[in-house]
Amino acid sequence: MIEKLRQNPQFESMKHAIGFQREYWNNRAQTGSVKASSSALAQAMVEPFWNEPCNGDVLEVGSGTGVISEQLLRRMKAEDKLTIIEINLNFLEITQRKMAQKFADEELTGRVSFVHADFLQHQMPAEQFSHICCSLPFNNFEPELINDIFQEMFRVCQPGGIIVFYEYILLRRIRYWLSLGRLHKLKNTEAVLTDWIDKHVVESTPIFSNFPPAMVYVLRKPKS
Ligand SMILES: C[S@@+](CC[C@H](N)C(=O)[O-])C[C@H]1O[C@@H](n2cnc3c(N)ncnc32)[C@H](O)[C@@H]1O
Repeated sequence: MIEKLRQNPQFESMKHAIGFQREYWNNRAQTGSVKASSSALAQAMVEPFWNEPCNGDVLEVGSGTGVISEQLLRRMKAEDKLTIIEINLNFLEITQRKMAQKFADEELTGRVSFVHADFLQHQMPAEQFSHICCSLPFNNFEPELINDIFQEMFRVCQPGGIIVFYEYILLRRIRYWLSLGRLHKLKNTEAVLTDWIDKHVVESTPIFSNFPPAMVYVLRKPKS
């Protein structure tokens, strides 16, 4: 009976949802959300990648419980490679187990690298990736850290490559209203994010069927 329950896909998703909540309460700033991305958000995050040629090297930053990783793998060609970098070992292990359950060994071996590291501390070769998919909770970060992360994403992205990330709609505004004493910091956070978006955005799509609703941004690194 218990074995049958364990094999039920709904039991698996419930386990992942509980795992996500646990990690959120253990480290709210780093996790950034109480719930994993909805499938609508995950689809919107991977969609921009397939509208143009992919040279085969994809990077996912902050996989959480692997909702977006699964979509990426489903849509990637057999010869494409995915690198997943996640700072939280529990999340990385959940992603790894989920991928192992959803895909046959031969689909994963040699195609996916799971890296347990802080994105900023793990030096990757310059211009390695044609596509970067980032779920980091920027609204919880200091302005300098946001800037460093964008600089690093642009460094490892190939010229002409794309960087997709999301931001929860209205969260910046709500924080603004709630934290009068920290207005200066919030203004800087807003300025840094807006600057990167304004300079490089090619597309932005609101996703309302997610909690909280999110805006997906597609940025392109200039060709030269
Ligand atoms: C909002 S959650 C991502 C949720 C994910 N899209 C999902 O649906 O499960 C943000 C993720 O970024 C990870 N993270 C935060 N800071 C990081 C860093 N410096 N390097 C790598 N991963 C990081 C967190 O551990 C967390 O898994």
